[in-house]
Amino acid sequence: MNNNDYIIRRENENDYREVENLAREAFWNLSKPGCFEHYFVHIMRSHEDFVPELDYVLELDGKVVASVMYCKAKLTDQQGNVKNILTMGPLCVLPGFQRRGFGKALLEHTFAKAAEMGYDVVINFGNPDNYVARGYKSCKKYNVCFAGDVFPAALLVKVLREDALDGRKWTYCPSDVDHPCDDEKAVEEFDRQFPPKEKGWQPSQEEFYIHSHSSITW
Ligand SMILES: CC(C)(COP(=O)(O)OP(=O)(O)OC[C@H]1O[C@@H](n2cnc3c(N)ncnc32)[C@H](O)[C@@H]1OP(=O)(O)O)[C@@H](O)C(=O)NCCC(=O)NCCS
Repeated sequence: MNNNDYIIRRENENDYREVENLAREAFWNLSKPGCFEHYFVHIMRSHEDFVPELDYVLELDGKVVASVMYCKAKLTDQQGNVKNILTMGPLCVLPGFQRRGFGKALLEHTFAKAAEMGYDVVINFGNPDNYVARGYKSCKKYNVCFAGDVFPAALLVKVLREDALDGRKWTYCPSDVDHPCDDEKAVEEFDRQFPPKEKGWQPSQEEFYIHSHSSITW
């Protein structure tokens, strides 16, 4: 199949279960045994911070092989000024279709849409390896931190306009959209709607731990 045969389009209700299954397949055992991202996708769509205009899938030969979603978030400066921004994620590509440019295509498509909507900053918390090629930089370079002056190594900032951030310190205030994912019983219950899948350990879990617990101090 030629990569050019794919189409990028908005997700619709008929895609919901396929996209949830795609998220489950892509994230299974990646950052912990099992995963919660299929549940995250499921609950995100009805949250007030969800941005349906940026909910896209990539379809190849009639099959959805990649998906991306965004939520509204905020940056607050030291004077209390608020800037509306986006958090990207989950971004997922079905195993077997990864490293073929589909993630890149979905990101570039939705970055352009987000810019048209007036957004100029996108943030996500993830493995820098996946994002630096898309122009994401360390939060430290833009002086964007979590409350308490923490600059996580995994906090990545993409500006959609060069002058989007002016060097002043901004505190990132993510949506609470992912909070229900802490409810392990709810995740387990949702997971039972899918075919059984074995949980296990893999090295990416340690990699995730290292990235998500590291911060930049100089
Ligand atoms: C991460 C993911 C979304 C990337 O999508 P993809 O379609 O596989 O990636 P692409 O083929 O579009 O590659 C995009 C770029 O990232 C680079 N890249 C991707 N993964 C990489 C890795 N693990 N290490 C180094 N570079 C990597 C590619 O070299 C490419 O760079 P280029 O544009 O300069 O050629 C996809 O692999 C995936 O779903 N993985 C499992 C779930 C996941 O990890 N999601 C992200 C959560 S942080």
